[in-house]
Amino acid sequence: MLKIDIITVLPELLESPLGHSIMKRAKEKGILHINLHDLRDYGKGKHRQVDDYQFGGGAGMVMQIEPVDNCIKSLKENTKYDEIIYMTPDGQQLNQGIANELSLHENLIILCGHYKGIDERIREHFITKEISIGDYVLSGGELAAAVLVDSIGRLLPGVLNDETSALFDSFQDDLLAPPVYSRPSNYNGWEVPPVLLSGNDKAIEDWRYQKSLERTKTRRPDLLKNVGDE
Ligand code: ADE
Repeated sequence: MLKIDIITVLPELLESPLGHSIMKRAKEKGILHINLHDLRDYGKGKHRQVDDYQFGGGAGMVMQIEPVDNCIKSLKENTKYDEIIYMTPDGQQLNQGIANELSLHENLIILCGHYKGIDERIREHFITKEISIGDYVLSGGELAAAVLVDSIGRLLPGVLNDETSALFDSFQDDLLAPPVYSRPSNYNGWEVPPVLLSGNDKAIEDWRYQKSLERTKTRRPDLLKNVGDE
């Protein structure tokens, strides 16, 4: 069982992406527990303020340390966390290896940034891992957190119907996944490769491997340098 506590100023933004399909099933099966924490509950004053101007001047608000500290403190009262992750474009870029690694943990906190950024002392003193989902800037960390949680959640044993299917995902062995087909076998004269209809498991496995290799060679040759290393 993996428990993920997500700290955000926009919990509504995460409810829907994490409330459907495979993530919903993972939660219903008790394999994945996601708790959304509204940072404003730890904010100050009538407006539950969690951001302020930056020292030294400059445009844009900064997420303050105190509400984040109070929220993390209260979470830590009941749980020992394996990682406290901050979603940020200057973090380590998410890949399948990171998702695999994180899926082996039991308790994670994900902090979603907003505004101009977060007080650097949060990063220095509380955060243990910083993750980016790519070289582009989103308006907040929530959608990035949804991507991260989805990539982890589907790897948890028992989440996917056919447990082995995550093993054959693209990137699991540094190869892209082969093409797949479904009925009808002939649509407008566009035929499914005959080998897939042959019933010959070995031939199908070989074909899929070849297609994976071809696809990786043409689309992502950079991945191939790792193939055959193990
Ligand atoms: N927050 C804003 N942009 C982001 C990105 N690319 N990855 C992770 N968190 C972000």
